[in-house]
Amino acid sequence: MVSKVRVFILLLCVGVFVVLRERVAEVSLENFSPFHNTSPCACGKCLSEDDVWFTQRFNKSVEPFLSAKHSLSEAAFRWWKGIQLEKRNFIYYSATVDNLFKTFPATPDVEASSDRCRTCAVVGNSGNLNGSRYGPLIDFHDQLLATPLDTHCKFPPLMNTGRTKGYEADVGKRTTHHVMYPESAVDLDNTTHLVLVPFKIQDLEWLIKAFTTGFSGASYMPVKSHIKANKDLVRIVLNVNFVGSFMRYVHDTWLEKKGRYPSTGFMALVLALHICDEVSVFGYGADKDGNWSHYFEILKNKHLRTGPHAGTHEYDVIQQLHKNQIIHFFKGW
Ligand SMILES: *[C@@H]1O[C@H](CO)[C@@H](O)[C@H](O)[C@H]1NC(C)=O
Ligand SMILES: *[C@@H]1O[C@H](CO)[C@@H](O)[C@H](O)[C@H]1NC(C)=O
Ligand SMILES: *[C@@H]1O[C@H](CO)[C@@H](O)[C@H](O)[C@H]1NC(C)=O
Ligand SMILES: *[C@@H]1O[C@H](CO)[C@@H](O)[C@H](O)[C@H]1NC(C)=O
Repeated sequence: MVSKVRVFILLLCVGVFVVLRERVAEVSLENFSPFHNTSPCACGKCLSEDDVWFTQRFNKSVEPFLSAKHSLSEAAFRWWKGIQLEKRNFIYYSATVDNLFKTFPATPDVEASSDRCRTCAVVGNSGNLNGSRYGPLIDFHDQLLATPLDTHCKFPPLMNTGRTKGYEADVGKRTTHHVMYPESAVDLDNTTHLVLVPFKIQDLEWLIKAFTTGFSGASYMPVKSHIKANKDLVRIVLNVNFVGSFMRYVHDTWLEKKGRYPSTGFMALVLALHICDEVSVFGYGADKDGNWSHYFEILKNKHLRTGPHAGTHEYDVIQQLHKNQIIHFFKGW
């Protein structure tokens, strides 16, 4: 039985490889087409096309990354401040953001969509990746977003080690964007984007200090004092052109305000919809026993749930995206 399923998965993978290869071929043909610029992306089918459910949620004009260009609204700050009981004020926040751009790119570039078909794999942490052998399929995409441990997990963060080490067959070798917050931080190689999802001002301060003098503050979990990563590839998911930041856009529009705030994993998925043209999703949801386990550690806490996040609702939205053929969702093993 098991081996039959394996063969099926293998066939499925081969099928997808072929599909992706064909799409790539289409792209290069399109480059010679006089109609090249009329399509919003360079893929056979673009994300934004004719799906009412999707267009009601996807707001193309929401910029995911913080940049010096967008001024900060105080109303936006107030919503974000409520998430983890931030005590410091808007003036302090603004000064910290100004300080950030002395070290990190002030106008982070998002690659223009019309140039080529950007295919992305978003890889979560779910135990359902264990034994999946999705690695080669995942590495086939040109952008790979790895998501962090979610805040509900009280396991010690993995220090100084890439989380993919030893699990390449199931989760792939490469990561182009690693989504993290200070409590889940790991060192990166210098070609990987560090994508920070900040939940409080201290997270922005952490970023500056972890790259310079070292961070020594306390949080609900131990936090790395230094981080190795390429500072030119740092991106911060906190744009306030939507009232209340990218996080609030995800919470209000995508999750219909369910849960207290979105999980970082779900935010990474919506982020992918904003920076990619084709999105495949791996490693989300519970494992085959119904537990919210991780592929890289043996489950100890059987009562682990999704904390302040609406885990089940997030999962439903992912399934709906798949059903509407907006994403390819690989449910795992
Ligand atoms: C989409 O986002 C923009 C800000 O980028 C905002 O002004 C607009 O109201 C949003 N549209 C919807 C339908 O929420
Ligand atoms: C990245 O690392 C390689 C080898 O370690 C080095 O040659 C290169 O200059 C580095 N690039 C940046 C942008 O730091
Ligand atoms: C969760 O995992 C444990 C083993 O760690 C197993 O006994 C249990 O049946 C699993 N499922 C649920 C829903 O707890
Ligand atoms: C992954 O699956 C293997 C085989 O079923 C098992 O032995 C191992 O403990 C699992 N790893 C984790 C982290 O659950």
